[in-house]
Amino acid sequence: MKFFVDTADIDAIKELQAYGMVDGVTTNPSLIAKSGRNILEVIKEICDIVPGPVSAEVVALDHDTMLAEGRKLAAIAPNIAVKVPLTWAGLQTCKVLSDAGTMVNVTLCFSANQALLAAKAGATYISPFIGRLDDINIDGMDLIGDIRTIYDNYGFETQILAASIRTANHMKDAALIGADVATAPPAVIKAMANHMLTQQGLDGFMADVKTAGITIL
Ligand code: E4P
Repeated sequence: MKFFVDTADIDAIKELQAYGMVDGVTTNPSLIAKSGRNILEVIKEICDIVPGPVSAEVVALDHDTMLAEGRKLAAIAPNIAVKVPLTWAGLQTCKVLSDAGTMVNVTLCFSANQALLAAKAGATYISPFIGRLDDINIDGMDLIGDIRTIYDNYGFETQILAASIRTANHMKDAALIGADVATAPPAVIKAMANHMLTQQGLDGFMADVKTAGITIL
């Protein structure tokens, strides 16, 4: 499973990149707003440091403006994936951009039917939002499983990008169910390394190192 980092925080991206954990980056208008920076500048800066796909989201609601925005975003770098919402205008924009060879990430997906439409429109990625479904007591991971089955039934090449990931368990479950990619905030990716027994074991080893005076260098 590929790891995308769901952030516009450059330092956080650089930190995770040093561990080999950044296969790509996703952003959305809320994350750009949180960064307090100009969208074109921050996306360019991310593309300069991350060779993998970088999702940048349009902000218009109608097809013509969305397409113009998508083309402007795509011109920033060859690794841009234009992110469009799962509306008919978004699907139309997805079709035009993907036919022209631009990667497209169709976002705000909450049903298997929506994912089917995105695949038919040529999406590179479909982003089902797990956490926001869990928030309303619908199992987000079931949706990932349904989309996996449908895409495999028909050989769709659209990649399932598990989004709105809130916990390390979401990462494990997305990997088990066969998501192609998971995008998560930096803190969730970092939390994946935590285990109480790892820390306990290390504490014990370090106590013995001290007692026995073990040195290597
Ligand atoms: C994905 O591309 C979205 O940016 C993101 O995962 C949304 O997550 P949230 O529901 O925690 O805001």
